[in-house]
Amino acid sequence: MAIFAPVLERPEDIHEALKQRIDPRRVPRHIAIIMDGNGRWAERQGEHRVVGHANGVRSVREALVACREIGVEHLTLYAFSTENWNRPKAEVDALMDLLVRTVVGELEELNANGVRLNTIGDTNALPESCRTTLLEAIAATAQNDKITITLALSYSARWELVGMVRAIAQEVKEGRLRPEAITEATVAERLSTAGIPDPELLIRTSGEHRISNFLLWQIAYAELWFTPVMWPDFRKEHLFQAVIDYQCRERRFGLISEQVTPG
Ligand code: FPP
Repeated sequence: MAIFAPVLERPEDIHEALKQRIDPRRVPRHIAIIMDGNGRWAERQGEHRVVGHANGVRSVREALVACREIGVEHLTLYAFSTENWNRPKAEVDALMDLLVRTVVGELEELNANGVRLNTIGDTNALPESCRTTLLEAIAATAQNDKITITLALSYSARWELVGMVRAIAQEVKEGRLRPEAITEATVAERLSTAGIPDPELLIRTSGEHRISNFLLWQIAYAELWFTPVMWPDFRKEHLFQAVIDYQCRERRFGLISEQVTPG
């Protein structure tokens, strides 16, 4: 009889051991991630910030594969915020270039694994080449149904909420909507995430404890999971750990404990 638990060293053994601890009946349908720490990760190694973004691509792949393995239906990544336009032009250009190269380079893999690509945000603000590449990849993956990866690009929640208010105001003005008929569903249907379930779990890397203008309406009941790990170091095991932690929490939605788990 083994007295000590076996020491797991190979990454695949660690993944498997963590995966075993995940209850497949309570996997979040939607996980959202604020990928943070690329710049600091690179600067700590004396590299340009862009090197951090380039290394972050592997983490995107790891997060996607991990989600796909445990049956998460939606993964939403905060890839470029409205505020990120104010970064040095060279960094913005490098990020756009990286996005195009990644989408083109991964397209075959996305299709082979049933991954549908989607975007939210003011994509009209993106450079033409970027927009075209994204639109082509969205069309090419539209029939895939294993998991949807949504990239938030030129996105901010306040931008999205202003758009929603404008849309509702216009409909009221034109007599197509009565103010008293406005419900939570009316709002949700006019957000860029219409049709996507709200995230149950929001992950942020790099030790920051902020929401940074991301999915403010949609995360009303999300569980938040913060890790000091910088995004380029984020691996499958971190995602599994976040899900295990999520499953240990009691989600009460304003009720009391006995109402959520009777008996
Ligand atoms: C935040 O780190 C990260 C970003 C603004 C961009 C994330 C982009 C990628 C991972 C590259 C490609 C993405 C896709 C979806 C193909 P930061 O620069 O804010 O880091 P810092 O807080 O250390 O400065």
